[in-house]
Amino acid sequence: MKELNWVKATPQRDPVFYREGSKYLVGGEIREWKGDLFEIFSPVFEKREGNFQQRLLGRCSLLNCDVAKEALTAAVKAYDNGHGEWPTATVAKRIHCTEKFLEKMKEKRMDIAQLLCWEIAKPWADSLAEVDRTIDYAWATIEALKDLDRQSSGFVRSSGFFAQIRRSPYGVALCMGPYNYPLNETFATLIPALMMGNPVIVKLPRLGMLCNMPLLEAFADSFPPGVINIISGEGSTVVTPIIESGQIDLLAFIGSAKVANLLNQRHPRPNRLRSVLGLGAKNVGIVLKDADLEMSVKECLQGALTFNGQRCTALKLLFVHRSIADEFIEKFCESLDALKGGMPFEDGVALTPLPEKAAVEKMSQYVDDAIQKGAKIRNKYGGDMDRTYFHPAVLYPVQETMRVWTEEQFGPVVPISPFDDPNEVIEYLARSPFGQQASLFGKDSLTLGKLIDALVNQVCRVNLNTQCRRGPDTFPFGGRKDSAEGTLSVTDALRSFSIRTVVAAKNSEENFKITRSIVNGRTSQFLSTDYLF
Ligand code: G3H
Repeated sequence: MKELNWVKATPQRDPVFYREGSKYLVGGEIREWKGDLFEIFSPVFEKREGNFQQRLLGRCSLLNCDVAKEALTAAVKAYDNGHGEWPTATVAKRIHCTEKFLEKMKEKRMDIAQLLCWEIAKPWADSLAEVDRTIDYAWATIEALKDLDRQSSGFVRSSGFFAQIRRSPYGVALCMGPYNYPLNETFATLIPALMMGNPVIVKLPRLGMLCNMPLLEAFADSFPPGVINIISGEGSTVVTPIIESGQIDLLAFIGSAKVANLLNQRHPRPNRLRSVLGLGAKNVGIVLKDADLEMSVKECLQGALTFNGQRCTALKLLFVHRSIADEFIEKFCESLDALKGGMPFEDGVALTPLPEKAAVEKMSQYVDDAIQKGAKIRNKYGGDMDRTYFHPAVLYPVQETMRVWTEEQFGPVVPISPFDDPNEVIEYLARSPFGQQASLFGKDSLTLGKLIDALVNQVCRVNLNTQCRRGPDTFPFGGRKDSAEGTLSVTDALRSFSIRTVVAAKNSEENFKITRSIVNGRTSQFLSTDYLF
């Protein structure tokens, strides 16, 4: 493998040791944890005194069960059975708090990006983009909430009744984001949950925890006490007691189906719990024989290897028509060769170290298994390893006995399988436990039309001549089977974190009079015709 440039970062991209890692936020107070801490080392190695060493970025709290329960108590108190200041606050008040927070968040942009970049080896440009996308997402959520407020500010009349229909909070939410988008995907649930009036407990992911810490103060300054609580630690110590209390109404979790199921099962009153889950995926790319090869290669390469393939939306298995498979693979490997591997803070870098050594071992096991069962590595340096770096391996031909056929590799391994008839891929998808997205590359409208119709009943988004992705964030993002529960997007998330609630009365002069008096006297937050422009 080309030697990696384990170099020093420019000062702007070089974080100093983060001293605030042992803090956490409960009941509006930022507290310092005096108990066990764990050390967060960067996956980036640096050469110091002739030796390669991982930099210690900070130390984070391994909170105990008592603190987790305090966070729960604070959130339950903030909800106060729906009577709390936050669930009864006007939309204007919730928006005001969120705007205040976002102004403060903007000031922390560089600090967050530095930590993201070093903590999970996300390329610098992508780290900045993650912070900006998160801020944009929150501003767009504010606008969507204003729309929702406008739409629900009137009365409806039907079959002798008149009613006002609005969306109300569910109660206390537990939000948990993943390591690959530790900021963005935590916020994609946290912001809409808060804005719909649900107090939130956030349990930060083990990898990608530090980058959320610079925001503790902004949260504490912007929201009423207990409305947002941020904790860290082992899931079994801090999450289990919260779920087992039965006092969580909403679970927003982005991670594996296995963990999501465990959490669901531990809730003593499962019918009380609403879940919004973003889970695993094994998105396929289908390259038909008439596909534009240059474009398909470019899209498949980005789809498979952006952030080293560590995206739930990544293309994790490529089906290429047998007649063009060799040419496709040759071009794919050439383009892969041209990608720059290196440290996340280097300009123009596309392939970076994985967040921990265990991920390198996992990738190597996938490759060994496929090779044993007949696949070959088709690209130069494929599968080479250097500390936390794993050079992408293009495997061909992949078939159903191999682990990469069904398992979600979530990393830089690109399995490619030949097909003769597109129905083979449709059958694969029908048997797959996943159902998030697929990419379809081709030109013939008759073939494409038929395939689109078959795919839309297997996955939630079909990408025509482009890679799979979540954005734009206004598009619905969901999944079938083990891939998701509920739909996220700027507008969908507001619905997912609230429940339609109706105040209805029979048409009568007396009821009109009472209702007018409530509305005109502004005696109710719910029954009101006020709205924000
Ligand atoms: O890891 C899953 C993310 O939601 C993927 O988002 O398609 O914007 O990279 P993305």
